[in-house]
Amino acid sequence: MADVRMPLSFLDDVTADRLVDLFEADKDRLAALTVEFPGLYFDFSKTHLTPDLVAHFSAAILQIGLEQRRGDLFGGLIANPTENRAAEHCAERGEGTAESVGIAKQLHNRMRALIEVIEAGALGEIRHILHIGIGGSALGPDLLVDALGRDAGRYDVAIVSNVDGSALKEAIAGFDPHKTLLVIASKTFSTTETLLNAESALQWMTEAGVEDAIAQVIALTANPQAALDWGVDETRILPFSESVGGRYSLWSSIGFPAALALGWTAFEDLLEGAAEMDRHFRLTPLDRNAPVLAAFVDQYYSLARKAQTRAVFAYDERLRLLPSYLQQLEMESNGKSVTLDGTHLGAESAAITWGGVGTDAQHAVFQLLHQGTRLVPVEFLAAIEPGHDFDEAHHRQLLGNCFAQGAALMAGRVHEDNARAYSGDRPSTTILLDEVDPRSLGALIAFYEHRTFANAVLLGINPFDQFGVELGKEMAKSIEAGGQRFDPSTQALINRAMS
Ligand code: F6P
Repeated sequence: MADVRMPLSFLDDVTADRLVDLFEADKDRLAALTVEFPGLYFDFSKTHLTPDLVAHFSAAILQIGLEQRRGDLFGGLIANPTENRAAEHCAERGEGTAESVGIAKQLHNRMRALIEVIEAGALGEIRHILHIGIGGSALGPDLLVDALGRDAGRYDVAIVSNVDGSALKEAIAGFDPHKTLLVIASKTFSTTETLLNAESALQWMTEAGVEDAIAQVIALTANPQAALDWGVDETRILPFSESVGGRYSLWSSIGFPAALALGWTAFEDLLEGAAEMDRHFRLTPLDRNAPVLAAFVDQYYSLARKAQTRAVFAYDERLRLLPSYLQQLEMESNGKSVTLDGTHLGAESAAITWGGVGTDAQHAVFQLLHQGTRLVPVEFLAAIEPGHDFDEAHHRQLLGNCFAQGAALMAGRVHEDNARAYSGDRPSTTILLDEVDPRSLGALIAFYEHRTFANAVLLGINPFDQFGVELGKEMAKSIEAGGQRFDPSTQALINRAMS
């Protein structure tokens, strides 16, 4: 593998002009650092990226091996070497090898057929969807249903992930067990939290007198045998491919609750929006390529400016779950200390992703963004079309606040009283959607996937495994099983609370 550090050594000597001066010095800056994509507009101009830096980064990422790794990704080759697997989420939306696209299409057809059967009433009257899964088996569907399903009115959807029974209790509070479809989503079908929640949900249905509760269960999994063993009928198991990673799986049958609640056409539009972003990522020159430019921004602040975090604020209630979705996507993918060849990374891995919604966050955490001593690159998201019919003043205020924050972070303000001064020169990216619809959301999520991938290429790491979650899982099982002694602190906690 190519040495990653060498091509990026230009970052050691980068000196940064102030953002306002960059605009002053280059009248074409806005055009050079914004990207138009159908339904989406990306503005990187309020970051310290310059056309010169973009050229350096572009040369570096090519030298590091972008083309080969991108080719492996779309070509169904081993993109995830530690697990000896391809990473074929793009095939789910039609961008991959003919064979994998064909398999994905077949599995989508199976999902569509089951949705039609459910809508025709074959499972009785279904009003509620209780989706049980965790991590990638919950965050994606949750984001889709929350963003796009607010007015769908077809079903009530509750997504339960936490093994804390209070989560399940809250989810089923208004549900009629006789009219509930229990959807168990788990790639491995072995995740302990999901299986326990599923058992309790099934018990809730049975105890309420549902005669054949298991007949109201659907399984979404890459391990159909385990779902069969659990008792789900083969006709109600919607498999997906092993080569689709958990946090990349909302395009597969894991997207079932969204496809059911929003309708099949919406699900197809979501896939098509993502496919369009796939083509953009694959074919657009690097200096016009939105995910690649975003990764340059990420690595510039992480490696050259030592930023520890990046913050994402959705100025749209419909996108309120995006920060949590991105936390898994970015941190589970790129929070790693080893390179592809198994050696120590020797640089910072992914920044910590955090965020919230605007305008709420302005009244809570923005103080630190404007005047704190830590550098936090900020990402703003907003949509031109509102998601409601209230007075347009709401949306004008929302957008005005969003744009004002980016401007204020950059401009700062001189004041004789230090407490009232703003240093400014604080970077932000803005992503503006025409509207929050299936197509633009599909493209947006695919943008984040490819940005994460481009970051992994720049870092020389494998974004598709997640061994870091295993140790804690094993220890939790040992605690549950009992018998093993832990360190004094942990043992005291176990003794106090669990014995
Ligand atoms: O523990 C991490 C993880 O494996 C994630 O990568 C995954 O999305 C989640 O658990 C759920 O896994 P599964 O879909 O197999 O239940």
